[in-house]
Order: sequence, then structure tokens, then C-alpha cells
Amino acid sequence: MNDTIENISNYLRTPILRLLACGSVDDGKSTFLGRLLLDSGNVYQDHLDALQKINRKYSPAIGEPELAYLIDGLKAEIEQGITIDVSYRYFFTRNRKFIIADAPGHAQFTRNMAVAASKSDVAVLLVDAASGIKSQTKRHLSILSMMGVNRLVIAVNKMDLVDYSELRFEEMKREIVGVVGTIYGSQCTFWIVPISSKVGDNVVRKSENMTWYDGGSVLELLETIELDKAQPSQFCLPVQYVTRDADKRYYAGTIVSGSVSVDDEVIVLPSLMKTCLRDLAVAGKPSGSANQGDSVMIELTDDIDISRGDKLVKSERRLMQGDTLSCQFFWFGEKDVIAKDVYELKFLSRKTRATVKQIKERLDLDSLQKTPATRLAQNEIGIASVSLSTTHYCLPFQESKELGSFLVVDIGTGETVGLGTVVSVEKAGRPYPYTTMIDKSMRASLKNQHPMLIWFTGLSGAGKSTIANLLEQRLYDQGYHTYLLDGDILRNGLNNDLGFDPDSRKENIRRAGEVARLMVDAGIIVIASFISPFVKDRKLVRSLFKEGEFCEIYVSTPLEECIRRDPKGLYAMALRGEISDFTGVSSPYEPPLEAEITIDASRCSVHEAVRNILNHLAED
Ligand code: ADX
Repeated sequence: MNDTIENISNYLRTPILRLLACGSVDDGKSTFLGRLLLDSGNVYQDHLDALQKINRKYSPAIGEPELAYLIDGLKAEIEQGITIDVSYRYFFTRNRKFIIADAPGHAQFTRNMAVAASKSDVAVLLVDAASGIKSQTKRHLSILSMMGVNRLVIAVNKMDLVDYSELRFEEMKREIVGVVGTIYGSQCTFWIVPISSKVGDNVVRKSENMTWYDGGSVLELLETIELDKAQPSQFCLPVQYVTRDADKRYYAGTIVSGSVSVDDEVIVLPSLMKTCLRDLAVAGKPSGSANQGDSVMIELTDDIDISRGDKLVKSERRLMQGDTLSCQFFWFGEKDVIAKDVYELKFLSRKTRATVKQIKERLDLDSLQKTPATRLAQNEIGIASVSLSTTHYCLPFQESKELGSFLVVDIGTGETVGLGTVVSVEKAGRPYPYTTMIDKSMRASLKNQHPMLIWFTGLSGAGKSTIANLLEQRLYDQGYHTYLLDGDILRNGLNNDLGFDPDSRKENIRRAGEVARLMVDAGIIVIASFISPFVKDRKLVRSLFKEGEFCEIYVSTPLEECIRRDPKGLYAMALRGEISDFTGVSSPYEPPLEAEITIDASRCSVHEAVRNILNHLAED
């Protein structure tokens, strides 16, 4: 080896190219990756030997094992139908180091591909020369564009199956140029390479079967692609922990983007306090500056309050403060997203609750046109506006990948159901929250009570309203100011526009919760009785109240007993199919997991139930 020490250390310092490999299921991604690793000398001999021993499909004709088998584990997982994550593998050549994210091609795993895209510099997208561009290919391209991956190597694979036809390649090329142009506009640099992973044409070695192609092999292109230096990304350090030494405070974390030097002015988010970097250590050693990926410990010039989860950013860029975002969603939740849905948005280090204001457009993957829409289904991409429960500091995705993207989390299940990128940030699209001279505690003290919401949930006929009624009577007798909100009553007035499908029930419960919130603010003890069958909707109501202001009572009378009682004759009708979406019969009921009190009204009298509740309330 005649590399000089200088060459080696230069090589070690070159940044790793973060590469994403994607393609529709049958477009040959595993074989491509196997070929790339094999021909670039990145497969160890013992790995190859072992593979050849166990590989019954070894083909003496080609003289090589089935390449896809080099890209191990995933296949078995797919066959078993278990959750798949993106798998990462490192490889290197004399000129560059790579980390490849291998994203499964199945439509149901597109979420993993999207998350991997958010962390990639370049993507290799495989398309099949024989079967052409599929809608999954267009979806992948749209996600790559949304996640700002604007350097692509598009490999037209399986050229051996089309007799290495230049004509077919040119045809594919025209189609690809059209699709990329429609999706990206002029915002993308891309190369189209005719390859055969199986035979080895143009993956690492130049093909002798396609002498008409005068461009580089996929690896040659990957080795020479220039990384975007024009736009240094915004410095951002999420604070992972705070330590003290004598009277000094240090903040530690890993820089997720950009770079920073001693004496730089930085802003703390979300407090917006300005300060300067006094001292810096990278991996425990003092240093004048630090870059993306470095683990740092820093000291600041001012003693300001910074806690774990806060972010430090440089002040030169215009950070936007806002409570309304226009954003692009890639939706992978099983349930469609519609207006008024409430989710948690998880930005780099802060979570904030958000209400979907409007779904505006969805991308039609066949025509690649944006069409007006009111909902987004699984695997769809679209534009929406959301209003945040608190103001948040972020940047449009175009300006900062890190500060302009977020995950969407379902409040009920904690599952990640979407990915978002910020298009624009607006302020105060809603009335400014004003404070009144007389507040809740003053109103409550005049009534000499602790206002709260007591929420009954359970099947129709479980006994909710009967217990709620007696409870109100008891409280009234003791001199409390109360009000009873009941599903049947509200549905005759305020909510008479709503039916019983899940979206209508959600709106029914949202309105009931908001009315209860106003009443609690007025100092009243509110008793609410609603089937409220969905965990998520009840959680939303709970979230409107402070600790100690909300008490959930689950009336758990079994369904058979409710059917036997059938006070309104509705079960009989539902069982005959005369009423649709009837809870317990043709619509689900999700029992609470965190109810403060559970009462089975088939096992105790109404009086006993009320006594229990009063005892519980007195204890708190
Ligand atoms: S909720 O599910 O949206 O919380 P809510 O408590 O307001 O329902 O209303 C339930 C009442 O509506 C029941 O007690 C019953 O009298 C009546 N009702 C009529 N149709 C249905 C239905 N399909 N499912 C449940 N309740 C129904």
C-alpha cells in the first residue's frame, strides 16, 4: 500500500455520503445492493463462502450466488409480515465512504423509506426496464422531493431482459425525465443509468453489453457526486443534558446540523434568549469549533435557564415564530387525516399539539397533479394547514431540513402516523388569548367550590345518565352549583347536525368538551354523560383540563345486560339492522384504560354508585 499518511487522514476526514436505495418491490433492489457490495469488494470472503454453502440456489451458470441473499434478514421479515425498519450498512471505496439506507419497497413500508429519505444526501432509485415506471416509483420520487433529496441516480435495471436495447432505454429515459420534471421542477440533479444488477452491467463495472451508453457506472457517479456546499445548514444543537461543575454550567449534545465556533452568538429555543459560546469541547477535547455529528460540551457566557430538550441555534438566520403552519404531509396512518383532527407534532426536540385546520390538496400519483381534497388516506401526500396549540419557532423546510420537519403522532396510541415538512409559518391566525379581570378561581371562590368536569362513559343503557342524575341531585342538595350535559340532550340542540359515524361522534365529544370547559371556567361542577366510545376523543377532552379538574367514570355494565335492559328499545332495533353504527352492536366501544372510577351498574345500586363517586371526590 503506497498511500501516504496524509492521503489516509484526508480520506478519514471526508464526509460519509448518506445514500438511500429505493425502488418498487420487484425492481431488483436487493440484487442491486448485493452487486454493488460484491463488485466494490465490500463482501468478506468468509461471508461469501458461508453464503455459498447454504445457498441452494447457487447457480453454476453464473458462477455467483444469488446476490439478493447478500442483503440478508429483510426478506425473511417480509415473508413473515413483521414490522420492518430500514437497515443501514456501511461500505467504502478508495474514493468515498458510504452509508446505505436500505428501504423496503412494499407500499406498506413506505413510511420507513420516508424517514430514511429525511436523513439522506443522495438516492438511488431502481426502475425495471421491462415493466416501466409504477405508481410506487412516482410515490417514492414525490417523497424524495418532499424530503429534499435532490440528487438522484435513477438506475434502469434488468436491461438484460430487454436485450440491452438502446431504444427501450431512450424510451424509459424520456418517461423518467418527464416524471422527475413534473415532481421536482428544476430542483433536481439526476443521472439515468442503464444497468443489469444480475449480470453486473454498469453497477460498478462499465458494461460491455451497452457500448452505446457513454456515462458512468452507478458507483462512479456516486463517488463523484458533489455534496451541496452552497447552502450550509443552520446550526442546531438539541441540549441532551445539563451538568454543573463548581459554579459553571455545561450543556451537552450532538450537533444535528451546521457548525459553531467559540464566540458565536446563539439563540436558545424556545425562550429566544441570546447568548454567546464561551468554551467548547468536542468528544472531551477543547476545540475552537465543531461540526455536524460532533458530540460537544459547551459553556455559555450568560447564566440563563436552559433545560434538556431546548435547542441552541445560530442567530444569523431568520427564525420564524408562528402558530399556524402550511405544510406538506406524507400520511401513513391507517385512519385518514381530516380537518379538526388533533395530533402531536414532534419537532426536533419539542412536541406541540396541533389541530388540522384544513386539508387543501392531495397529489394524484397517476396524473402527478395536485387536486383539491378534504382528507388524506394512508400513503398519500398532500398539503394541509395546521394550527399549533403554542407558538413554535421553525423554518420552512427549504431553509432547514432539521427545523422544518416533524413527525405526526397519534395522541391516543402514541403511533407515528405521518411526516410533515413546513412550507410556511404564520402568526396569529386566531384571536389573541386575552385575560379577563374576573377569572376562574374568583368565580369558583364565590361559589365556594372546586369546579371540575365529571365525565361518564359507557354503553347506551349502561346506567350513565341515571347515575349522573342522582349525583347531580346529591351535589345540589349539598349546595353545589352544577350542570348536567347529556348526549341525548345535546344531540337535540347544539349537536343536532351530527350522526353516529366515528367522525360525527368525535365532533360531538369535542363540542361537549369545549362547552364543559367554558362551564368549568364559569366555576361550575359539570357532569357529562356521553357514550364517548373512542379513547382518542376522551383523551382530547381530558387534555382540555388541568390535573384534578377532570374525573373519568367508566360505567362498565356488560353489553348483555345493556341489551337485556334496553330502556329505549334501541338495541332491539339495532339487532334487527334498523339502526346502523349502533355502539356495541355495529360500532365499537373502546373501554378506558385510565378511568379514575369504574362502576359496573349491574352489580351495585344507583345509590351505591353515587356514594362511591362522592367518596372518591371527597378523597381528592
Ligand atoms: S356518542 O357516541 O357520540 O358519545 P351520545 O352519548 O352523544 O353518543 O348519544 C348516544 C345516545 O344516542 C344513545 O343513548 C341513544 O339514545 C342514541 N343513539 C341513537 N342512535 C345511536 C347509535 N347508532 N349509537 C349509539 N347511540 C345512539
